[in-house]
Amino acid sequence: MAAESQIGIANGNCNGSVPSSSLRTYHVVVAGTRAMGIGKNGELPWRLPSDLKFFKNLTLTTIETGKRNAIIMGRKTWESIPLDYRPLSGRLNVVLTRSESFGIAAAENVIKCGSLSSALELLASSPYHSSIERVFVIGGGEIFREALNGPGCDAIHFIDVETRLECDTFMPEIDTSMFHPWYSSFPTEENNIRYSFITYVRVRHSKVESLIQNNKLLSNGKNGSAKFEVKDFSFLPKMVFERHEEYMYLRLFKDILSNGTSKTDRTCTGTISKFGCQMRFNLRRTFPLLTTKCSGEEWLRNFYGLSAVPLMLRYTDMHADYTGQGFDQLMDVIDKIKNNPDYRQIILSAWNPSDLKLMALPPCHMFSQFYVSNGELSCQMYQRSADMGLGVPFNIASYSLLTCMIAHVCGLSPGDCIHVIGDAHVYSTHIQPLQEQLGKVPKPFPVLKINPEKKDIDSFVGADFKLIGYEPHEKIEMKMAI
Ligand SMILES: NC(=O)c1ccc[n+]([C@@H]2O[C@H](COP(=O)([O-])OP(=O)(O)OC[C@H]3O[C@@H](n4cnc5c(N)ncnc54)[C@H](OP(=O)(O)O)[C@@H]3O)[C@@H](O)[C@H]2O)c1
Repeated sequence: MAAESQIGIANGNCNGSVPSSSLRTYHVVVAGTRAMGIGKNGELPWRLPSDLKFFKNLTLTTIETGKRNAIIMGRKTWESIPLDYRPLSGRLNVVLTRSESFGIAAAENVIKCGSLSSALELLASSPYHSSIERVFVIGGGEIFREALNGPGCDAIHFIDVETRLECDTFMPEIDTSMFHPWYSSFPTEENNIRYSFITYVRVRHSKVESLIQNNKLLSNGKNGSAKFEVKDFSFLPKMVFERHEEYMYLRLFKDILSNGTSKTDRTCTGTISKFGCQMRFNLRRTFPLLTTKCSGEEWLRNFYGLSAVPLMLRYTDMHADYTGQGFDQLMDVIDKIKNNPDYRQIILSAWNPSDLKLMALPPCHMFSQFYVSNGELSCQMYQRSADMGLGVPFNIASYSLLTCMIAHVCGLSPGDCIHVIGDAHVYSTHIQPLQEQLGKVPKPFPVLKINPEKKDIDSFVGADFKLIGYEPHEKIEMKMAI
C-alpha cells in the first residue's frame, strides 16, 4: 500500500465516520440467501469459514491504533454466539434488548441498550465518539428490519448465498434505489454452498420509487433527480474500497509506467509498453464502464462498429454486396452456446492470416472464446495491441456488452469478461492525462439493463440498453495517436 500511495492512486484512506450529528452512522454486515433467509433454529444455516474470516477482518480492522470498532446486535444474535466466543474480542459488543432484567455478565467490552437509536446516540457521545472508529450492525432479523436501508446506514456488506437453504429468520430486501454495488467478488464455493461478497454503498438519501417504476432512472444519469446524492465513497474500509474493479485498470497503467519499456510505434508518437497482461471483470451485478473519466459517450457511439467483427469473409470494397457470403461467426457462437454449451470451440476470430496483407490495420481485438458454466456465460478476449488511455476502456465495455447480449439471447446470466492483452501501451501524449485520472477516486460502476422482450441478437437497437447510475468523473482529453 505504501508503494501505491507514492505513485498516487487515490484510495479509501479515511479515518472512520466520526459523527457530527447526535447519531452514529453505521454499516450493516449480513449473509443471506436469495430468499433473504439469514437464520434457522437460532443459528446460522451454513458453515462458511471464509465468511467468518471476512466478518472478523472487516469488524476488527481499524486505521488508528488505540481505537476499536463497535458491533450492534439483537439479544437473540448475542445468545447464538457460542459461550467461548462471546463477547466477540477486540470490538465493543452492543446488545439490544427491551428487557430490563436481561443480564449480561459484566465484561469490559459489552454494553446493553434499549433501542437502536439509543445505541447510535451513545456511540456518538463521549467517550465512544472518539474511541470507536466504525459501527457495524450485525443482526439478526429483527434488528435488520430497522437498520438495513435505514437513514444512518452508509454501506451494506452482503454475503450473497446462492444455494437454496431452509431458513426461519429473514432480512428485508436491499433497496437498490438507495444502495448501489461498489464491488462484487467472483462466486466461491465452500461446503457445497456457492456464495459471493458484495458491498453496497448508499448513493441517495431516500427512496426514488416512482422514478424506478417509470423507468426514468435509466438515463445514463442525465435525469437530474436520479443523480447520486452521495458522491464520495472513500469512507469504506480499505479492504473493501480497494476491491473496486476499476483499480485493475488503474494499477495496470501504473505498472506499465513503472516497469514498461520505451518503444517506437506505427504512429511515431512513442509508447511505454508491457507485454502479457490480464484483467478479469465480473459482469454479474455491475457493468465495467470506467468512472475515473467519462467514457460513456465514446462507448455508445462506437459500439455498433463491433457488429462488423464476427463476419469472416473476403473483403472486396465498400460497394460489394456481401449478402449470403462468408461465415456468420456470431450466429455460430450463439448456436453452440445454446446447443452444445460444454464445447471448447466457441470462438470468434477476426484474425485471418491470408487476408492480413489486404488490410490497412489488422484487427487489434482478434480472438474471443466463450465458456458456459453454472448458467453463466463468460468471455475471454485476446487483444494483440491495446492503447491503455483511449482504447482499453472502450474495449472492456464493448466485449462486456457483447457477453451480456449473447447471454441474454441464450437465456444465461453474464459471468466474467476476461481481457488478455499482448502489447499494452501508454502513448507518451497520454501520460499526463492518465496521471490526472489516477488521482480520481472511482464511483460505483453502473448496472446494465437489457430489454427483456428482445430475444434475437440482430434485433437490438440502442434503446434496448439502459445504464443505471453511471456518474463518472468529467471527461479527460486525450489525443488519438494516428
Ligand atoms: N446471516 C446473518 O448474517 C445473521 C446475522 C445475525 C444473526 N443471524 C441469525 O438470526 C437469528 C436471530 O435473529 P432474530 O431476528 O431471531 O433475533 P435478533 O434480531 O438477533 O434479536 C431479537 C431481540 O433483540 C431485541 N431487540 C430487537 N429489536 C430491538 C429494538 N429495536 N430495541 C431493543 N431491543 C431490540 C429483543 O430482545 P428482548 O427480547 O431481550 O427484548 C429481541 O427479542 C439467528 O438464527 C441468528 O443465527 C444471522
